[in-house]
Amino acid sequence: MLRLAIPKGRLLAPSLQVLAQAGLVLAEDPQGSRKLSFAGTWHEVPVQAFVIRAQDVPVFVERGAADLGIAGRDLLAEGRPRVFEPVDLGIGRCRLVVAAPEKIAQRGLPAPGARVRVATKYTNLARAWFAARGVEAEVVKLYGSVELAPAVGLAERIVDLVETGGTLRANGLIEEATILEVSSRLIVNPAAWRTKEALVRLVFAVQRACKEEHA
Ligand code: PRP
Repeated sequence: MLRLAIPKGRLLAPSLQVLAQAGLVLAEDPQGSRKLSFAGTWHEVPVQAFVIRAQDVPVFVERGAADLGIAGRDLLAEGRPRVFEPVDLGIGRCRLVVAAPEKIAQRGLPAPGARVRVATKYTNLARAWFAARGVEAEVVKLYGSVELAPAVGLAERIVDLVETGGTLRANGLIEEATILEVSSRLIVNPAAWRTKEALVRLVFAVQRACKEEHA
C-alpha cells in the first residue's frame, strides 16, 4: 500500500493529471468531492490518496502519514521539511516576489541599515531575503489576501506569490524583486524510500511521465 498526499486548490487538477499520466487510477474523481481520502491503484499496487491543504502536504510526508506527495518549492524553502525532492513536476509555476504600492516602489528597495514592515505567509523567506541585504524586516504573518496589507496600513511591502500578476495589478502593487522561482515537486518520505520498493518504481514512473510531457 502506498499513501499519497495531493494538494487541493489550484494544484489539484494538474497534480491529478501528472499522476494519471504516471499510471495512477483512482476509484472516484476527487475534484468536486468533499471526501478527503480516495482508494486507487498504481498498476497492481493499492494506493490511498489524501486530498489536503497544500501547506499540510510536507507535514504528512515528513511524518510518514503519506509516503509521497506534491508540494510547491515555496513551501519547501519556507518550512525545510526533511523529505526527498526527486522530481520537479513543472506544474504550479509562479514566483515569490517583493511588491509595494507605486509610491513606495518608486523610491527603490530599502538600503542596508533600513527597517521595513512586510506582510507575508512566508515569514522565514521574507526575513532571510531582507537580512541578506542588510535590511531588518518586521514581518506581519498573514494567511491569505496579503495584497490588501499595504492599503490598510499593516505593512508597506508584501512578499507573496505571483502567477499572472493580476492580483498585484488589481490592488495597485508593483513587483520590486523576485525572491524565488517556484514550481511543484514530488516529495518523498526518506524512510519509506528505503523500505518500499513500489514507491521507488512509482517515483521513476512520475519522472518518466514528466519527461514525456515536456519532450
Ligand atoms: C495566490 C497568491 C496571490 C495570487 C497570485 O493567492 O497568494 O494572491 O494567487 O496569482 P496571480 O498573479 O495570477 O493573480 P490565492 O488565490 O491562492 O489566495 P490567497 O490570497 O488566499 O493565498
